[in-house]
Amino acid sequence: MAYAAKPERYNNMEYRRCGDSGIKLPMISLGLWQNFGQPDPLENSRTMLHTAFDNGITHFDLANNYGPPPGAAEENFGKIFKEDFRPYRDEMIISSKAGWKMWEGPYGDFGSKKYLTASLDQSLKRMGLDYVDIFFHHRPDPETNLEETMRTLDLFVRQGKALYIGLSSYQPEEAAKAFEILNSLGTKCLIHQPKYSMLNRWVENGLMKLLEKEKAGCIAFSCLAQGLLTNKYLQGIPADSRVGRQLENGAITEEALTPGLLKKIQDLGVIAATREQTLAQMAIAWVLKDKRITSVILGASKPEQITDSLKAMHNYNFSKEELELIDGILS
Ligand SMILES: NC(=O)c1ccc[n+]([C@@H]2O[C@H](COP(=O)([O-])OP(=O)(O)OC[C@H]3O[C@@H](n4cnc5c(N)ncnc54)[C@H](OP(=O)(O)O)[C@@H]3O)[C@@H](O)[C@H]2O)c1
Repeated sequence: MAYAAKPERYNNMEYRRCGDSGIKLPMISLGLWQNFGQPDPLENSRTMLHTAFDNGITHFDLANNYGPPPGAAEENFGKIFKEDFRPYRDEMIISSKAGWKMWEGPYGDFGSKKYLTASLDQSLKRMGLDYVDIFFHHRPDPETNLEETMRTLDLFVRQGKALYIGLSSYQPEEAAKAFEILNSLGTKCLIHQPKYSMLNRWVENGLMKLLEKEKAGCIAFSCLAQGLLTNKYLQGIPADSRVGRQLENGAITEEALTPGLLKKIQDLGVIAATREQTLAQMAIAWVLKDKRITSVILGASKPEQITDSLKAMHNYNFSKEELELIDGILS
């Protein structure tokens, strides 16, 4: 039977404006880095996309290299989009990226016009889309002139291949230079995509201030530190967890599970319980407490994780005492 989105899908989601743009994003978005590749059951990927959209998640984050193998997540998303989501295209924000190695040779990585142009064309083909809503430069390129990369992003907007553009993992000084070039070209950077969680707080050292000044949005990734900020590893390594599956694509491995970290997770879990949240919900809420965060991109391996994580929106305010206790545990 054809998929029909739940009529009540917009009832419980909150949407935050992305900087001073016309776009609002759901406070929780869904990322397809893991669990949408070739080895992953397509029906589980499909159910996760349905669960997300049925609960008001309108933003889906992809990249050229998500898989495995690279390209597979876009291909699988494309299949499901064609079968189930085409009637809903105008209700969706679909993003892709390029910047990490995608193919062999000197033109398949980083930030040249040659690489980005070929890559976006490939991404559109794999997903069966005419345009992406947001195209991100996935990481800064230390060698290519920043002007070349930014001019290419500006060109994509002018060509209509991307409606908006974003940057990912640019440090504040690099981002400031990129914003200046983009502003001079007349294409504002819509949003920055950094890693941000209780375990990784680099954005607090200048990036958030810059984004506020530039009136750009911020969409945080790995807010659960790839699943570490949940209680799943306290009693060992579940076979179906990200660590247990022993992936070889940048995913966390057993080495991350140090006794020191497990103690922190346990202590954070106690605070979460006093807030009547799971640790996963508290970790997401902790990022969302900053109103400058437009959205967090959640990763998930099961549909139930999406519904569980969405409950973070029930309480994303923290008392001064709670924040001090959390800082104490993390220090
Ligand atoms: N721009 C970049 O460079 C970049 C880099 C990385 C990621 N991203 C984006 O951010 C997205 C998310 O990244 P991520 O997967 O690292 O994020 P994450 O949200 O920190 O981790 C996701 C993992 O946490 C676990 N999980 C999620 N909800 C849970 C819940 N309610 N209870 C228990 N466990 C739960 C699942 O682990 P199990 O698999 O163990 O079940 C899931 O696979 C990516 O898909 C991608 O779109 C961007």
